[in-house]
Amino acid sequence: MVNVKDIEKALQNIRPFVHKTPLIHSNSFSKMTGAEVYLKAENLQKTGSFKVRGAFNRMINIKDRKVITASMGNHAQGVAFAAGKLGIQAKIVMPVTAPIVKEEATRGYGAEVVLYGENFNDALNYALSQEGYTFIHAFDDDEVIVGQGTIGVEILEDLSNIDIILVPVGGGGLISGTAVTVKAMSPRTIVIGVQTESAPSAYFSFKEKKVIDKIPLSTLADGIAVGRVGDRTFDIINRYVDDIILVGEDSIAMAILLFLERKKLVVEGAGAVPLAALIENRERFKGKSIVLVVSGGNIDFTLIDRIIHKGLLSSGRIGVFEVTADDLPGRLHSLTGVIASQRGNILNVIHDRLAEDLSVGKIRVVFTVETRGRGHLEEILSDLTIKGFEVKRRNEGNS
Ligand SMILES: Cc1ncc(COP(=O)(O)O)c(C=O)c1O
Repeated sequence: MVNVKDIEKALQNIRPFVHKTPLIHSNSFSKMTGAEVYLKAENLQKTGSFKVRGAFNRMINIKDRKVITASMGNHAQGVAFAAGKLGIQAKIVMPVTAPIVKEEATRGYGAEVVLYGENFNDALNYALSQEGYTFIHAFDDDEVIVGQGTIGVEILEDLSNIDIILVPVGGGGLISGTAVTVKAMSPRTIVIGVQTESAPSAYFSFKEKKVIDKIPLSTLADGIAVGRVGDRTFDIINRYVDDIILVGEDSIAMAILLFLERKKLVVEGAGAVPLAALIENRERFKGKSIVLVVSGGNIDFTLIDRIIHKGLLSSGRIGVFEVTADDLPGRLHSLTGVIASQRGNILNVIHDRLAEDLSVGKIRVVFTVETRGRGHLEEILSDLTIKGFEVKRRNEGNS
């Protein structure tokens, strides 16, 4: 069974190989949520995620010189990096859906990469079928859990008075290690896991007190897109974790954007779920001192512009709406005039008078407008309505 003594020992063993990442107080997130918010910045860890901790701890005393693993990406990088440093040969099986940036980084650390299957479980079964290797599980392994638990020790070294720690959950290794540490060293601190609605196996397993499979849907939080919580981790979560909550994909996009904009931190979807949870549950966490485990920063840059756009849309910073008006000379001019007088910045305009559902003598104009936020967007829409225009909001943008 995993215990805090082993976790403290593990921290000494892996210390030469991994960073002690900073615990950063965030004024802006504190102000925004009414909590005292601290960020454990594991996105600044070697390989860009906490996964090196578990990988080093599992492999540091290994006899076999050949290891294999299956991973969506961050564990792959952790194992590949640790193997390189420890002189071990690593074969990594990744599903074809793993982000290219993670696949390339894993190869870059010197590992052999095999792409197999559509999801983590396919890759896992393939890796398990290979002979002649020691298998390094991404989460359901005591030594891996112990390694991840070193995060908890570092957090408590830097801050003793913590009400709540929010931890992303995929297979559950990170939260298991963290919870064992925290409940031993600071029993009053509440440990809450966060999953995306798109991959909620640990959430349902925790609520229903038995392991439940959930096939992951497509998600921005690819690092935690696991279909089944581990058996070991399920036991530890049941014993030590206080709650698990779910967050939506729009909140994850917004959280990634906030990290970029307010903290200048590149955070991947899985690492952003604690902030999404804090924002979705402001009332619950108000007045508390909270640590968010920002578990990784390996985001695919081809995704980032879409995430920024989605985040701007869901926070109302980009508004898309259509206006129907009489087809008279100067109509477009007066419409843009209203938006300009409200200091909205027009990014795109589509002017349509031929839509099937439009009566003759009417025009429809679709605006994509940059605003200061939801309140500002409402002001623009209500001013247009007051001035006699028929306004309808749209959900997606085309700027
Ligand atoms: C960035 C990131 N955060 C969180 C997790 C969740 O870790 P676990 O599977 O141990 O719950 C992962 C897993 O790969 C990850 O890559």
